[in-house]
Amino acid sequence: MKKNMLILILAGIISGALPRYKEVQSCGCAVDECCSQMGYCGTGYVFCGVGCQEGPCYSFLPANNLSVADIVTPKFFNGIHDQAAASCAGKKFYTRAAFLKALNSFLEFGRIGMLDDSRREIAAFFAHVTHEIGYFCYIEEIDGHSKNYCNKTYTQSYPCNPNKSYYGRGPIQLSWNFNYGPARNEIGFDGLNSPETVAKDPVISFKTSLWYWMNFVHRVIGQGFGETIQVINYHECDGANSARVERLVTYYTQYCNQLGVVPGDNLTCS
Ligand SMILES: *[C@@H]1O[C@H](CO)[C@@H](O)[C@H](O)[C@H]1NC(C)=O
Ligand SMILES: *[C@@H]1O[C@H](CO)[C@@H](O)[C@H](O)[C@H]1NC(C)=O
Ligand SMILES: *[C@@H]1O[C@H](CO)[C@@H](O)[C@H](O)[C@H]1NC(C)=O
Ligand SMILES: *[C@@H]1O[C@H](CO)[C@@H](O)[C@H](O)[C@H]1NC(C)=O
Repeated sequence: MKKNMLILILAGIISGALPRYKEVQSCGCAVDECCSQMGYCGTGYVFCGVGCQEGPCYSFLPANNLSVADIVTPKFFNGIHDQAAASCAGKKFYTRAAFLKALNSFLEFGRIGMLDDSRREIAAFFAHVTHEIGYFCYIEEIDGHSKNYCNKTYTQSYPCNPNKSYYGRGPIQLSWNFNYGPARNEIGFDGLNSPETVAKDPVISFKTSLWYWMNFVHRVIGQGFGETIQVINYHECDGANSARVERLVTYYTQYCNQLGVVPGDNLTCS
């Protein structure tokens, strides 16, 4: 259901791998690639993170040195977690400790712009998680087994394993082969051959949601909460889903209040 997708132009160009050399002054990367601080082209954290000069950079806002753990306090996290019924599968699975551990791989999450931008990004992330999985209730998409979410356009770059299904799993409900595929290099597990890992390992599960967030949502932080709805699940914005948008905005506003920041403008889809 996700609108955006990451297309790795060359399978070898990955975070941590040797970058393809490009002239520093004229990066001229492919549309889906970022020009890194050092003038290399590629995708993922190394290229699109801090210092990214051009392309789908995670953000152009300057980094700050906030401690996300100080904002996502046990009280804040548990305030959300406690809303899930005891019978929920996610209740034992999702923990603050797993979130913080996953966060170590995404150091720019919630740490760009002014401190209020950070608080809004954190509120936005947890608002979307609350909406996607009902306050940490679900691990897997309801009835997900009936769909395989294999987009054949990407079978060359992200070949689907016919025995596996890429339905929604984890805090942001990672779905489709083109989102499970990049996990191999960018998160470190074989998403195409063992997508179920996202439903079994809570740290990897949080990593997939942060990976998705950093790749597609982080860069719109500062443009209003409505833009995050637009990039995550654009059909929430098609007019027929105003109740769902309203619910998202309610979560977001509530979490902003708890974190002591005003929600800002452009809360709904434009
Ligand atoms: C960022 O915070 C860490 C831990 O609080 C500290 O050790 C480090 O010096 C800070 N860096 C900057 C650039 O302020
Ligand atoms: C698969 O991806 C292509 C390219 O992004 C898109 O045009 C197409 O609608 C997708 N198909 C499905 C079934 O989602
Ligand atoms: C899918 O499962 C079948 C039957 O268990 C097996 O023979 C086949 O090798 C599997 N395919 C992949 C790609 O794992
Ligand atoms: C809200 O949207 C308007 C119109 O698109 C835009 O001019 C304004 O900059 C946006 N506000 C923020 C905070 O992004």
